Amino acid sequence: MGYQLGLIGYPVQHSLSPFIHHQFMENADIQGEYQLYETEPEQLEKRLDQLTEAGISGFNVTVPYKQAVMPFLEEVDQEALKIGAVNTVVNDNGTLKGYNTDGIGYIRSLEEACPDVLGEDKKILILGAGGAARGIYRALAKHGIRYISIANRTKSKAEGLLDLKDLHTQTEILSNSEAEDALGNYDLVVHTTSVGMSPKQDDQVISLNNLKPHTVVSDIVYKPLNTKLLRQAERMGARSHQGHTMLLYQAQYAFEIWTGTHPSMDGLVEQLEQRLRGN
Ligand code: ATR
Repeated sequence: MGYQLGLIGYPVQHSLSPFIHHQFMENADIQGEYQLYETEPEQLEKRLDQLTEAGISGFNVTVPYKQAVMPFLEEVDQEALKIGAVNTVVNDNGTLKGYNTDGIGYIRSLEEACPDVLGEDKKILILGAGGAARGIYRALAKHGIRYISIANRTKSKAEGLLDLKDLHTQTEILSNSEAEDALGNYDLVVHTTSVGMSPKQDDQVISLNNLKPHTVVSDIVYKPLNTKLLRQAERMGARSHQGHTMLLYQAQYAFEIWTGTHPSMDGLVEQLEQRLRGN
C-alpha cells in the first residue's frame, strides 16, 4: 500500500503539495499516495480522528489550522511548540506528533541558492511578524545568525517574536518606514507577509529605494514567482530569492520525517517554476 500522506487545510484544492510529494516518491523509489483533505473548521477534529483510524502515515497542515491542530496532537516537537505552529504530523500507531518544517525548509532553500548570506556575522531583516516570520526567525537564530531585525506594520506584534530568540541573537524591532531607511545595513531581507500575492500582485510591503546591490532580497510569496518586491530588487542590482524554493524544501524535510528518506530535488525546482508560470 505504501505511505498514505496528505494535506489538511481550507481551501487546499490548488495546492502544489501532491505534485511535489509524488515527485519525491518517484525520485526516492518509494510507494505511496498524497491526497488533499479540504476540511471545514467545525470538521477538523473529526477529520483528524478519521485519518488516524484509517492509518494515515502522516500529513501536512496548512492555513488556517497550523495552530488549531495543536491541541489535538499527543506530542508536539519542542521547536514547533516554541514557534506555536505545526505544519507536519506523523501518525505513530495512532499517536499523532507535530513538527514545523517551514523555518528549516527556508534555511535549506537559502543554503542552496545563496549560502553566503547565512554567515553568522551577516545582518538579516525580516519583514512581517506572523506565523511564517516566527518559523523563519527561529530557524535563523538557531542557525547562529547574530543580527536579525524584524520590521512590521504593527511594531508591538514584532516584539512578540523576541521570546523565540537565542542568547547570541541581537534583535532590533523596526517600523516598516524605519526598515525602508535602514535597508542599506542588511545582507538579506526576507519578506514573510502575504503582501504582493496574486491577485494583489501590485502591492509591495515596503519600498526598496535604499537597497544596496550586495543585498539578497527573498520573498516567501511564490504566486507570482517574480513578485513586485523581487522585481524592484533586481532593478536595483540586488540578487533575488524566490518563494517556491521554500515550499519545496519544507516539503522535503516533511518527507524525511515521514519516511526517513532524503528525497532528491532532481529537476523539481524547474518543474515547479513551469507549473507556477502556467497558473
Ligand atoms: P502568517 O501566519 O501567514 O504569517 P499572519 O499571522 O496573518 O500570517 O501575519 C501576517 C503578517 O503580514 C503580519 O506581520 C501583518 O502585519 P500586522 O502584524 O501589522 O498585521 C503583515 N501584513 C498583512 N497585511 C499587511 C499590509 N497590507 N501591509 C503591511 N503588513 C501586512
